[in-house]
Amino acid sequence: MKELTSESLRNLYLEFFRQRGHAVIPSASLIPENDPTVLFTTAGMHPLVPYLLGEKHPAGNRLCDVQKCVRTGDIDEVGDSSHCTFFEMLGNWSLGDYFKQEMIAWSYEFLTSPEYLGIPVEDIAVTCFAGDEDCPRDDESAKKWIECGIDPKHVFFLPKSGNWWGPAGTTGPCGPDTEMHIIRNHAEADKLSSDQFDLAPAGTFLEIWNDVFMQYNKTADGKYEPLKQCNVDTGMGLERTLCILNGKASVYETDIFENAIAEIERLTGLKYNQSEDVTRAFRVVLDHVRTATFMLGDTKGIVPSNTDQGYILRRIIRRAVRFGRNIGLPQGALNSVSKTIIEKYKDVYPELVRNSAKIEEELNKEETKFSRTLAQGLKEFEKVASQLGAGQEIDGVTAFHLYDTYGFPVEITQEMAREKGLSVDVKGYEAAYAEHQAKSRAGSEQKFACGLADHKEETTYLHTATHLLHAALKKVCSPDIEQKGSNITEERLRFDFNFSRKLTPEEVAEVEKLVNDVIKADVPVVMKEMSLEEAKEQGFTGLFESKYGERVKTYTIGDFSKEICGGPHAEHTGLLGTFKIAKQENVSAGVKRIKAVLVK
Ligand code: SER
Repeated sequence: MKELTSESLRNLYLEFFRQRGHAVIPSASLIPENDPTVLFTTAGMHPLVPYLLGEKHPAGNRLCDVQKCVRTGDIDEVGDSSHCTFFEMLGNWSLGDYFKQEMIAWSYEFLTSPEYLGIPVEDIAVTCFAGDEDCPRDDESAKKWIECGIDPKHVFFLPKSGNWWGPAGTTGPCGPDTEMHIIRNHAEADKLSSDQFDLAPAGTFLEIWNDVFMQYNKTADGKYEPLKQCNVDTGMGLERTLCILNGKASVYETDIFENAIAEIERLTGLKYNQSEDVTRAFRVVLDHVRTATFMLGDTKGIVPSNTDQGYILRRIIRRAVRFGRNIGLPQGALNSVSKTIIEKYKDVYPELVRNSAKIEEELNKEETKFSRTLAQGLKEFEKVASQLGAGQEIDGVTAFHLYDTYGFPVEITQEMAREKGLSVDVKGYEAAYAEHQAKSRAGSEQKFACGLADHKEETTYLHTATHLLHAALKKVCSPDIEQKGSNITEERLRFDFNFSRKLTPEEVAEVEKLVNDVIKADVPVVMKEMSLEEAKEQGFTGLFESKYGERVKTYTIGDFSKEICGGPHAEHTGLLGTFKIAKQENVSAGVKRIKAVLVK
């Protein structure tokens, strides 16, 4: 196998697919656009859902990228050798272009060719879909693998539970997949017949890559209807692949964290691998600081808060502070570790450099805020815990007190309780919280439970209204206004922008009037593709995540609004209803927030 660094693996992957006709597209933001049901981008395909459903992508029908992803479902597991909340996914897509034959041949070549990963073919096992009433057995993939050179005894079949991917939420694009695994234990692997893959003891196989053949759309009533086009969606975890290629025990031992580990060792005087507890604390700090750095440094950057993405960020930073204190990390250390992360990724994700001042300020602010109450809160927790016996529960009001007074997110209280064999009455906590604040965190939790949204009409119309609001703010308040964040649910839009004060009642009325005038005029919304440079020249605004030379979509609404945007949008403004600003909020000193609705 070839030893590679993170930089060379990214380049090798993208170059391989570039040479095979793929456009290299930039990573999308970590914060999904127009998707109210998930808080973060969780896979490379996630920002591409509209295109997998049939919309035309401006860069063509062969794409590849390295996508930044966040998955926080297993956050409490972070500290072991495999879990991370942030990771990069290498991926390539066919949007109705090539399918199984080409993809499997390329996967085989990339994995085994000495020019690429150089993995010995006898060390590779593959799994294919076993077939059921929704979709036939995938003999075509199995045959192709064997033709390429995979040993037939290393080809396995699994049902939907193992060889089906998606939809990411309850509905959306999905299909059978074929997964590639490294055989770590040949003796165990050789005992298995083709339908016994699941019986292998843990550690026999290590998954390295997943090719999804997306040919179905799962509908709300649970049916699998054929998509307009047969797509390919593949995903390879960058960190995990590095780990496999370089024979490392965990992702934390790859080049990605080398300098960050050295920095923590310098700050604490401890060694990363000196004991299990120390290693665990190091890993929590490494993972969480990296995730926080990427969240704060994202083009649509977020800040710690008590709701949605901001709450997750707060929880991650505070958990890092707690574990950091266990190994004696001094105040301000999160920022020092973050700097090594920015340095490591600066060429791949230049937004981290652009936003480094904000990353530093917010990390320090949140660390200081929590540090002030941490010691006292821990004392309070110990007092509560000492009064309870093993198996008993910390009541909801006490858990809320720990949050409200000492800043302990309930998940941190739960984790500390578990360490002592106790539990927390979370329902009671939520009731106490709801009583106190009238709005509970349940919204965030629900967003974790499900996945991608349909692009329902309501969200599409609110998206168009967001463009109108943006343009109206520029006209009424200041031409310098820029989008700092956007989030749309089926009920409302939320728009963050740079402005030093709230709008006056007169300004609110003027913005509403301008937007409603455009709606009443029933103006068509026109999409046009062009290069990024042309779009800039023609005065389109946008979050310039795109790269030089790339083709982008632009949306024009009469002579009122011109934005670079992936869509989708209403076809004409008359569909929107009446626009109304429901609320103004303060996000930070220079950033204000408007929530607005469309009344039918
Ligand atoms: N969507 C698939 C995954 O996340 C392949 O990219 O594994």
